[in-house]
Amino acid sequence: YILKPFKNLGIIDFNDQEIYNEMKETLKRVESEFGKRYPIVIGGKEYETGEFIRSINPSKIEEVVGYTAKSNEEIAEKAVETAFETFKSWSRVPAWKRAEYLLKTSKILRDNRFEFVATMVYEVGKNWVEADADFAEAVDFLEFYAREMLRYDAQQPLVRIETEKNDLNYIPMGVGAIIPPWNFPLAILVGMTSAAVVTGNTVVLKPASDSTVIAAKFVEALREAGLPDGVVNFLPGSGAVVGEYLVKHPKIRFISFTGSKEVGLKINELAAKPQKGQMWIKRVVLEMGGKDAVVVDETADLDFAAEGIVVSAFGFQGQKCSAGSRAIIVEDIYDKLVEKIVEKTKEIKIGDVRFHENWLGPVINSSAKNKIMNYIEIGKNEGKLIFGGKALEELGGYFIQPTIFKDVPWNARIAQEEIFGPVLSVIKAKDFDEALKIANSTEYGLTGSLYSKSREHIERAKVEFHVGNLYFNRKCTGALVGVHPFGGFNMSGTDSKAGGRDYLGLFLQAKVWSEKI
Ligand code: NAD
Ligand code: ALA
Repeated sequence: YILKPFKNLGIIDFNDQEIYNEMKETLKRVESEFGKRYPIVIGGKEYETGEFIRSINPSKIEEVVGYTAKSNEEIAEKAVETAFETFKSWSRVPAWKRAEYLLKTSKILRDNRFEFVATMVYEVGKNWVEADADFAEAVDFLEFYAREMLRYDAQQPLVRIETEKNDLNYIPMGVGAIIPPWNFPLAILVGMTSAAVVTGNTVVLKPASDSTVIAAKFVEALREAGLPDGVVNFLPGSGAVVGEYLVKHPKIRFISFTGSKEVGLKINELAAKPQKGQMWIKRVVLEMGGKDAVVVDETADLDFAAEGIVVSAFGFQGQKCSAGSRAIIVEDIYDKLVEKIVEKTKEIKIGDVRFHENWLGPVINSSAKNKIMNYIEIGKNEGKLIFGGKALEELGGYFIQPTIFKDVPWNARIAQEEIFGPVLSVIKAKDFDEALKIANSTEYGLTGSLYSKSREHIERAKVEFHVGNLYFNRKCTGALVGVHPFGGFNMSGTDSKAGGRDYLGLFLQAKVWSEKI
């Protein structure tokens, strides 16, 4: 099976007039479908329970993007049983055929690119470029994991002996619970789901409640691609109810989770306890939060650094696990750089992201808004508020100004806890040594970035800056599939490195046979 080598999809140029017009048209079309109902899908059959999840446009909260049927425990049981039965046949489908379903799905996504992008603009408040980057990453995962599966399926290198013929095969594990977050509502969901099924497992996919419509559209694409019924069972519902039900279920073999530290740790604990009838130790892959830092030393290009800090902190309203929510700046250049950061932040346009000119959109929902505003209040006693700090209710959505605190002590709550909103803590360091120490001072360890022209500092950071994804002289967000395999240390997770060569191994177990000759 010969495929062209993997290449990242790349993002669209919305400044091209034709592309701009097509996006505008698609936004109108997607808007005309607001309020549509999307079903639970189990074994290819559609279900409703009478209860629905309302998916709201956070830019304009009176708009309901769609209603998705809400699952309960009874329907969750059906989903697990169906996946369990389907595993018997799906696990025997040849790897190349499973890979082909991913490639077909990738084609369907690419043919409907604008629709997926527009749906994310409305459902989670991503600006056009962020939404398109999310889309491109989703396609990249499908293309990358399809190719990876063929690599895992090929003959594996083993030591050979004269008296035996031996082999090692990667085989699937069973039924997986796939529990993604809402903030990369297509990319992460697609990555986790496609990796699980291309490796021959069947899954119950429980999307995040704030992004069920985009999830439902991906499930439609899988069905259109002809993926056999029961391989992906779609179970929108409450995390605390059906999410936990899945995690505890004795027939669930593995759990693939991306989300907050609090929920991840709870899942870890629940999954560790064997249930009656359970035959295995559940495998748990957890990718969680971050309190990522951009460090700037005295040799850096300050304009460049200011740009990187602002984009890392405020891109998608700071709602990325990779967001650079701390800027750690050495004393010599501190005042000058802070000024530049504020100047750049002033240029940010805030508003409804259906309009291309708006760069900063809303935060996801009212509880996120309240949590972020609460942190802003805390920050007022911890550092100096030098920009923003207000919610902009008059705009009709969950908008919060990009907010900057300076002179924040390294151990302040706003410098240690994940806020997941457009709030930047600027911290002064005496010198590069102290900057590195502060960078490593949180319980997290996901991404980080250093702006420096000093080769010595760069080499030291490679060893001492303890994060899963470290960047130099660029922003700390925007990992590309295959280029920057993604995952963090410490409380940021199990470092699964999504989009890397080790990732599919997490969904497989190795079986060795050896025959005497
Ligand atoms: P979340 O933890 O609230 O929810 C994640 C998923 O878990 C959702 O599908 C939710 O319904 C489900 N869930 C909630 N409670 C559950 C329970 N008790 N049992 C089982 N499932 C449950 O996170 P979120 O708000 O959707 O996403 C934001 C968080 O995700 C941030 O902390 C962010 O840093 C993190 N994140 C991490 C990465 C990464 O790769 N490390 C990527 C994106 C987001
Ligand atoms: N993978 C995403 C990024 O790097 C979270 O920004």
